Amino acid sequence: MTQTEDQRDVVDLLSADHREFDRVFTELETLVGQTGPDALRRKRELVDEVTIGIVKHSVAEETQVYPRVEKQVDETEAERSKHEHAEAEETMKRLERMDPGDPGFDTEVLTLVREIREHVEHEEGRMFAELRATFDRDELVRMAEAVQRVKAIAPTRAHPMTPNEAGVRTVLGPVASLLDHLRDAVSGRGKTAG
Ligand SMILES: [Fe+2]
Ligand SMILES: [Fe+2]
Repeated sequence: MTQTEDQRDVVDLLSADHREFDRVFTELETLVGQTGPDALRRKRELVDEVTIGIVKHSVAEETQVYPRVEKQVDETEAERSKHEHAEAEETMKRLERMDPGDPGFDTEVLTLVREIREHVEHEEGRMFAELRATFDRDELVRMAEAVQRVKAIAPTRAHPMTPNEAGVRTVLGPVASLLDHLRDAVSGRGKTAG
């Protein structure tokens, strides 16, 4: 890798996030079916970690990338992507309400893995190619910077996500609160002006 962080265009940046999600998914898949205390703790950690990553990534895409795609590139694909995000969001909300020892937990994990992998395939196979064909490099780099700014609004690890702290999961789930926080923060800034 010779490019520095701020030279990366939006396709490189979002693709790197996708690879990171997949790294977590691969580890999660090895843990499915395991019920020992270490495995359960690790599953919770990984699900929480990937959830935070996906939420930040999705809100950044929905606010900084999809609107441009919708207007200038491919309206159908932008719509489909938002729908796929919404589905994964529901799965993540179900997962945060569950204990890793619950009977349905692993099934939901595998659902999330499938939903995100399919979504990533659609983005990388179609939307990203269209982005590069439509916008010049400067514009794609600026989009990457905008994505980074949105991701920086939220903490890397939300405090309530601390795994298994006396079994306490907070009232307002981290997914819901993160989504609210991020979407409010982004929409409240009037960034879309101009
Ligand atoms: Fe993505
Ligand atoms: Fe996406």
